[in-house]
This record gives sequence, C-alpha cells and structure tokens, in this order.
Amino acid sequence: MTTHDQPVPLTIALPKGRLLPKILEFFESRGIALTFEDRRLVAYDENGRFKAFLVKNNDLPTYVNHGIAGLGVCGSDVLYESGFRFFKLLTFPFGRTRICLAGRKGLGAETYPRHLAVATKLTRFTQDHFHSRGVPVQVIKLEGSVELAPVLGLAPFIVDLVETGETLRANSLEVIEKLGDVTVHLVANPSYYKLNYQSINRIAELLKESGE
Ligand code: PRP
Repeated sequence: MTTHDQPVPLTIALPKGRLLPKILEFFESRGIALTFEDRRLVAYDENGRFKAFLVKNNDLPTYVNHGIAGLGVCGSDVLYESGFRFFKLLTFPFGRTRICLAGRKGLGAETYPRHLAVATKLTRFTQDHFHSRGVPVQVIKLEGSVELAPVLGLAPFIVDLVETGETLRANSLEVIEKLGDVTVHLVANPSYYKLNYQSINRIAELLKESGE
C-alpha cells in the first residue's frame, strides 16, 4: 500500500502477437481494461490494479524471471523453451493449440523415424520429446516461418504449432503426428508472488470467474 492507501499496481508482461487481442478481450470481460496507445509498450488499467508491459513472446519469461514483471501471460510452449520455473496460477480458456510433427504431403511414416532432421522454433521441446522416445533427432533452429524449411529443402520435417492448419495446407504440408498440447497460463515470479500473494490471489479469482 502507498501512503494514500492506493494499491500498488501489479506488474504483468503480455505477449505481442496473435494472443494479445484474446488476452485483452478476456481481461476486459473481467473488468480489467488495458489499452496500449500510440505504440506505447506500457499501459495501466483504469482501476490502477495493473501496470502492463508489451513484450516479444520469447522474451516474456526473461522479464518475469528477473522480476521486472511479477506476472505474465504465456503459452506453455514458450515457458518450456525458456527453462524457467514459475508459479502457474491459472490456465486460460483461450489460446489452446497443438505442437505437431509435420512434413510434405505423403512423406509420412516411410521416412520417419529412421532419419529425423527437424526444423523448429521449439528446439528444447523437440530434443526432449524425441530423446525420451529414444529417437535420434537433428534439430535445426529457426525463429519463424518454419513451414518454409521442407519447401526449400532445409529439413524434411518441422515441429511447430498448428492452430487452424491453414499454414501447413497452404505450403503443401501435413501433420504427421501430434506431439503435445499448448495452453496459455497466468504465471508469477515465485518471489513476487510471496510478496504480493493477497492481491495476486484476488486477481486470479477474478480471472477464474466465468464471464458473461
Ligand atoms: C504460428 C506457427 C505456425 C502458424 C500456425 O506462427 O508457428 O506457423 O502460426 O497457425 P495455423 O495452423 O492457424 O496456420 P506465427 O503466425 O506465430 O508466426 P511465425 O511463423 O513468425 O512464428
């Protein structure tokens, strides 16, 4: 609390990109209105409960790990790749998607798993997944547009997020196997949570309530 008994806003990192509109809409449905104006990367909600930072998806765990943002909204894929461990406060109903092994149409089981060269953003997940199955894998790291790799001959396979499947279809690729699920979470830096657990729990309860 400040001297005027105003609550100190909780700091929260939000990811730029396709999740952001869903997050803002969900928060608004719970009475938390956040507007990032004129390309500004910091916003306060009108009730002073949050100070929100707009960060690059893959940087989000770094901000939370360093306590710059005490809270974050992040996909389980990005959390896993970061290797950081946070308190997971809740799972949101939006943003669920799949991690899939994909390749050119018709490639299928014939080439897999004898020779598994995979291009992916999700290098940690891919290594761990195939190692746990005893399948040797060569992982080629990309930052995006992963679907180009089989088209251009960088690698016959990709491991990537598949939401609608449109990007795969548009590039003559298909899912070979689903490897995992992605869910979106509210996470907290453990030290920050211990210091602010009362107000964080209140917010988590508010976000858990079913909307209209
Ligand atoms: C993600 C993902 C796929 C695509 C899947 O990429 O890596 O490329 O979305 O969505 P779909 O199944 O609905 O087509 P994103 O749009 O985040 O961009 P990126 O290629 O730069 O990672």
